[in-house]
Amino acid sequence: MITDQRKYFRNLLLHFRPSEVPERTLRLSLTWGLGGMAMVLVFLLVATGLLLKFAYQPSPALAYDSILYLETQIPFGQLLRNLHRWSGNALIFISFLHLLRVFYTGAFAAPRQVNWIFGLVLFAAVVLSNFTGYLLPWDQISYWAITISTSMLDYVPGAGPVIKAWVLGGAEPGPVTLLNFYALHTALLPALLLLVLPFHIWRIRKANGLVIPRSPTEPPGTTGPMVDAMPHLIVREVATALLLLAAILVFSMFVDAPLAEQANPGLSPNPTKAPWYFMGLQELLMHFHPLFSVLVIPLLLTAGLFLIPYLGSNPANAGVWFRSHLGRRTTLVSVIVSVIATTAAVMFSEFVAGAGQASAPDMINNGLLPFAAVLACCILFYVVIRKAFGADREEAIQSLVTLLVTAFVVLTVIGVWFRGTGMQLMWAG
Ligand code: HEM
Repeated sequence: MITDQRKYFRNLLLHFRPSEVPERTLRLSLTWGLGGMAMVLVFLLVATGLLLKFAYQPSPALAYDSILYLETQIPFGQLLRNLHRWSGNALIFISFLHLLRVFYTGAFAAPRQVNWIFGLVLFAAVVLSNFTGYLLPWDQISYWAITISTSMLDYVPGAGPVIKAWVLGGAEPGPVTLLNFYALHTALLPALLLLVLPFHIWRIRKANGLVIPRSPTEPPGTTGPMVDAMPHLIVREVATALLLLAAILVFSMFVDAPLAEQANPGLSPNPTKAPWYFMGLQELLMHFHPLFSVLVIPLLLTAGLFLIPYLGSNPANAGVWFRSHLGRRTTLVSVIVSVIATTAAVMFSEFVAGAGQASAPDMINNGLLPFAAVLACCILFYVVIRKAFGADREEAIQSLVTLLVTAFVVLTVIGVWFRGTGMQLMWAG
């Protein structure tokens, strides 16, 4: 009887997982379990979100009180809210790390290009889900974070104000905004996530599994021995999921999701900050003309991300962390250069050049000129990596991407921790 049940369970599993996998792809140093963790978080978010719907009321008059009621009157209500909030934040962080692991192991190259695109769609859905959820408690933090984030759209010529009016349903966040965000957060975006996710997993099967990890000196094409998915893969997946769930649960038991006073549209807090994942953009806005910080630069970076698999990467390098020994050195150099250069550029812009306002000549002084300077530095960096380090095109592109990603992380860190009252630079916070 027991063996029969085991057989049925095994058969069921094989509908979702391959029967055998290359032993090498089970190495923690390939995936770090990140994709699986992201998936667990998606399911945890759906489950906790569905429960939150029983208490939450999506109108400015009732939203804040419904959160207070949940936290104080419903058994485990605070814990439920904490679990949902921290899983959402963890999902951004973990899917970003997963994106980096896919990039640095060359797992975006043929035949996985389309899956890279699906991944980016998932990432966008994850960030937008967090963003739309941010407003729902309708407290001072959430109200003003959404006000400052959506006001960035004013600087996008043409479509910006139209999108802003559509999303907000008025000049500032109000009842329509809350309803819009609620619908996006609880219906459209989860539907998109749950729809794209199976395609993401199916594409892995179509590509004959994950990339095979190997050291730079090993020849490509060595798959190594195969092992049964059950127990080798499944046990690892279940263990990772349980560890993650335990970590999130313990964290949520001790750290409460923030809730400030009820939103007051007449009184903005000082400083007013966007959610942390948009602080890099808000920081950029302090140094560049809005047209460049809100439109040109994000658009170019997003286009670059989508184009990565089509820039002629060699599939034979897939599975080698950082492509080669030289790729490891140039990546490290890029991180160090980027941390120093970005910090120095922020200091220069703040204390020497002076932060700018949007006006006609300002478009040149704070827009075109610094943008051209940054572009020239990137081109120079690419040339130096190729000529001085002898890197090939792929290694040089990897260095350039590292330079830009690190710069964005540094801007985010500065915005989150080193900006205080009046968004002045300060030493800690
Ligand atoms: C909600 C977000 C995401 C979830 C739940 C998810 C899930 C997964 C899972 C479970 C795997 C297999 C195991 C692993 O690699 O850890 C995987 C692989 C993969 N993911 Fe994601 N992913 C997400 C976001 C992304 C993003 C942002 C990208 C890149 C833009 C991406 C690109 C890929 C690629 C190309 C593979 C195949 C890797 C290989 O063959 O080695 N994914 N994903």
